[in-house]
Amino acid sequence: MSQNTKKQNAAREALKYVEDNAVLGVGTGSTVNYFIAGLQEIRDRIRGAVSSSRASTEKLMQMGIPVLDLNEVDHFDIYVDGADEVNPALEMIKGGGAALTREKIVAAVAKKFVCIVDDSKTVDVLGRFPLPVEVIPMAREYVARELRKLGGNPVWRQDCVTDNGNQILDVHDLRITNPGELEQAINAIPGVVTVGIFSRRGADVLIVGTEDGVRVSEK
Ligand code: A5P
Repeated sequence: MSQNTKKQNAAREALKYVEDNAVLGVGTGSTVNYFIAGLQEIRDRIRGAVSSSRASTEKLMQMGIPVLDLNEVDHFDIYVDGADEVNPALEMIKGGGAALTREKIVAAVAKKFVCIVDDSKTVDVLGRFPLPVEVIPMAREYVARELRKLGGNPVWRQDCVTDNGNQILDVHDLRITNPGELEQAINAIPGVVTVGIFSRRGADVLIVGTEDGVRVSEK
């Protein structure tokens, strides 16, 4: 079975978590794109979506799903998004698609975070995937020096400007044994907008597409 089929299966399973008349938080990436495509079938029973990126907004609008401004929504039940890595505590690395800041904001508002991945994304210890950090452009080199002090090897993602007009450093060679602590430490560096560790707000439900079907775990 291909990775794409596994992603698609995980995305289909997530549709079961959508209740009637729901407002949904929608993440970004190839796995979520399958989820957005699946919304076609239940379009008439959802109120709308809050999007985490321009790319997802465009896709939702093409499907005729109302995209709501987060400032006009004070709560909603579920946020569905992929991840670049996820550990057994349902902590994640995100931001491979550079949408980490808006993803973290939308996830913070949602009552339940449903993470959908294929089985290549599950790890025991986070860090093999280079950790994305969104930075204010003028602070890039300063932040990079501070990240080196924390043991990482930051590389500027040169072809990338985020939806917020910022830049991304991808931090290689980290072995993240205490995600909560590192999330806090990197967030505290002046010039950092968002670090792609999702520990303080991890997932509540993890749906993994595997060779033998989907595996669901809950916090
Ligand atoms: C976007 O910035 C990321 O956080 C994505 O959620 C993550 O990269 C997963 O993307 P795929 O579903 O394309 O692997």
